[in-house]
Amino acid sequence: MLPLTVNGLLVLDDGKYTNSRVSAAYLCSSQPRNILNVVKWQHFINYKAMFHLYDSIVANKNLGLKEFSGNEPTLYQRLSHDKNLEAIFQLAMQDISRQAQVDLVENVDFSNIKYLVDVGGGNASNIITIAKKYPSLRATVFDSESVCKIARENIQKNGLGDRLTAVAGDCFSNSFPINTDCLLFCHFFTIWSKNKDLELLTKAYKELKPGGRAMIFNMMQNNSKDGPLLAAMGSPYFLTLATGTGMLYTWQEYIELFEKAGFTEIKFQKLPMDHGVIWGIKSED
Ligand SMILES: C[S@@+](CC[C@H](N)C(=O)[O-])C[C@H]1O[C@@H](n2cnc3c(N)ncnc32)[C@H](O)[C@@H]1O
Repeated sequence: MLPLTVNGLLVLDDGKYTNSRVSAAYLCSSQPRNILNVVKWQHFINYKAMFHLYDSIVANKNLGLKEFSGNEPTLYQRLSHDKNLEAIFQLAMQDISRQAQVDLVENVDFSNIKYLVDVGGGNASNIITIAKKYPSLRATVFDSESVCKIARENIQKNGLGDRLTAVAGDCFSNSFPINTDCLLFCHFFTIWSKNKDLELLTKAYKELKPGGRAMIFNMMQNNSKDGPLLAAMGSPYFLTLATGTGMLYTWQEYIELFEKAGFTEIKFQKLPMDHGVIWGIKSED
């Protein structure tokens, strides 16, 4: 009990332990904003990998992957060998992204988008949130086969099977679905190197129809390269485990990638919690 009272998670009063306000709000499964899925992600996936942080820094690659079965080079591929771990990971992503998704749909106008593809869209929680606000929008998750299965179940559970789908594919080696007005990349450009991000944007530009847009949505690093704190906290995870290459780049660095890929009318919008969107249009001519 001592560690829990010292950390303010339990309160000892008159010989009786009760939850503090923090644990009552965030550590009880009955509460809508509980972080139990994130705690499970840390416990079952991140902590054992982070043991390899020092060696990963020295080798400049994600040696934390050795804790997971398979030979693939990214955590996402290796999770497909373990349904239980993959489900834990996807639920954690959903809960981490939950408030960010609300900020996205409240602040970004999708009214001109008829068909949107969410690349690396996970369990479909992003497109479900967007589709609930825009009743005529159709959207597709583009992710691995095993993750698409989870996405399809989630879509059915939300009664949106008439407008939302999941298509399996690898964003680097398979074509994106055609006739897309918007290729959305949520919390996705942070997991790859800048070269890979440029490869993705160049591919997006090539495959989008004229007038289509690519949009990235994630936390960004300040252009002054001195924060925010969460941008720095992500780097050990991306290096040691996720891909060995990713990090949160600055707003300006992402904007330059859009320019290099050929996009025009590049715009950005800052959102709460150090998040933001950057988008660009494939010109009509
Ligand atoms: C950090 S999670 C982000 C999930 C979701 N977009 C969100 O905002 O919470 C990255 C997602 O990208 C998917 N992914 C990783 N590599 C991919 C690839 N090469 N092609 C397509 N999807 C991929 C993973 O399966 C995972 O669902």
